[in-house]
Amino acid sequence: MPRLRSLLGIAGLIGLAGLAWLFVDRGPVPGAPVLATAAPELLLRSGGSTTTIHAGERAFSLSARSMGLPDRLRFADGDAPFEHPFSPEDGLGAAHNADGCISCHVNNGRSPAPDGFVADAGPVLVLGLADGSPSPVLGKQLQDRGTGADGILTVDWVEEPGTYPDGTAYSLRRPVVSVDGADIAGLATSLRAAPPVFGGGLLEAISVDDLRAMADPDDSDGDGVSGRLQEAVGDDGTPAAGRFGWKAQHASILATTRHAFDVDLHLDHDLAAERFGDDFLDDTAFYTRTVAVPALRDRDDPDVRAGAAWFVQVGCAACHRTEPYTTMTVDVQALSDELITPFTDLLLHDLGPGLADDLPQGVATGSEWRTAPLWGIGLTGVVGHEHYLHDGRARSLEEAILWHGGEAESARDAFMGLAASDRSLVLRFLSAL
Ligand code: HEC
Ligand code: HEC
Repeated sequence: MPRLRSLLGIAGLIGLAGLAWLFVDRGPVPGAPVLATAAPELLLRSGGSTTTIHAGERAFSLSARSMGLPDRLRFADGDAPFEHPFSPEDGLGAAHNADGCISCHVNNGRSPAPDGFVADAGPVLVLGLADGSPSPVLGKQLQDRGTGADGILTVDWVEEPGTYPDGTAYSLRRPVVSVDGADIAGLATSLRAAPPVFGGGLLEAISVDDLRAMADPDDSDGDGVSGRLQEAVGDDGTPAAGRFGWKAQHASILATTRHAFDVDLHLDHDLAAERFGDDFLDDTAFYTRTVAVPALRDRDDPDVRAGAAWFVQVGCAACHRTEPYTTMTVDVQALSDELITPFTDLLLHDLGPGLADDLPQGVATGSEWRTAPLWGIGLTGVVGHEHYLHDGRARSLEEAILWHGGEAESARDAFMGLAASDRSLVLRFLSAL
């Protein structure tokens, strides 16, 4: 039976080749196909039981689905000041950046992209001395509105063209900020777009030990990605890990909300309390903590799965982690003991000179930024204004990736080295988050 023997021989050879293929560490091969079966297991409900399947304009505005009636009532109490357009009569400061939270966090999403004179409320100019301390004249932020405004903010854009290794052309834009009416010479400045506001209480409930376990400040595993904890001040006045803001400069949602009322609105708390009650700050923070997270869409679509596999393979998940966290037991039941995937390690990473702003905050240097959570990012355009990164410079998810440098340079290069069709799979995956 020579025929059968040679057939068996060939089958044996193929079997051996298959085995060898399994054991060779191939590493990421740019352009090589990855199988959808290599996709990480992803939770459909990124925000655990708080998750909403609503994928329309209100996808970032709903209450945590699992909250009971008393918590939903408190959510509504906090929603009122969040949506309210303040006036001088109910506490709006003479100099401010906007008249209410929702003017910047449009539909709880991002602020309008600045373009020339900043007509719509939204991006703010954070500023300080070279060491990060507030300017003695202008404070922590330029107030560009109101009868007492410091000056007028204008943002122009400079295009920076580039090409992929396969010859495909792209163009990125970089902001150029100018201020009329206030002297910002010699100050460090940082243009900041408003990030989306949902799922905050879940991020707050990730244990600091989990964050510490991911930090690798000296890059001792040598993978080029370090990551360190931001140092901020907790609600009890003691040092705490920073989690919120583009440089994780705030430890809690309460601190972030207080900062927004004080700095963005320059609010007179007594006048605001007359209208919304003495608990208006806590209520607004409660609201901000308990906005539901949108669910993944098309998770089992083969293209989405292949995109997720590439996302891991090129190294995005080193910072935008795909593994779930279990939240701690906290004062709100809906936020407690939940399995969540925010796609962030909440750590500071050096993303290189391209994104650097030279304004240190806490322990973050000018080039360090908090890994941005990617949950819900695919709904950005449906909810409101579509632009990305700390100053809104990226007009698409693709541009956001191309700006990554520093610790993320090798991931960006690996993405750029993919075939155009595989790059689209990565973008397809992001659009399903
Ligand atoms: C003038 C525009 C503006 C207004 C008004 C505003 N914000 Fe913000 N918000 C921002 C910007 C810009 C950031 C990012 C700040 C930074 O990192 O420096 C931010 C960040 C946040 C964050 C942190 C989100 C995250 O993932 O890190 C929360 C929460 C938040 N704002 C809540 C509020 C609340 C509550 C109000 C109303 C009391 C409010 N904001 C009013 C512009 C605004
Ligand atoms: C070394 C850590 C790191 C790696 C690796 C990394 N990122 Fe990021 N990513 C960040 C940080 C930090 C930011 C925020 C930067 C900023 O706003 O200036 C960010 C921002 C983003 C944003 C914009 C988010 C927003 O809210 O505007 C997207 C999209 C994104 N990353 C996708 C990716 C993809 C896709 C990859 C892989 C090709 C990747 N990232 C690799 C750290 C990383």
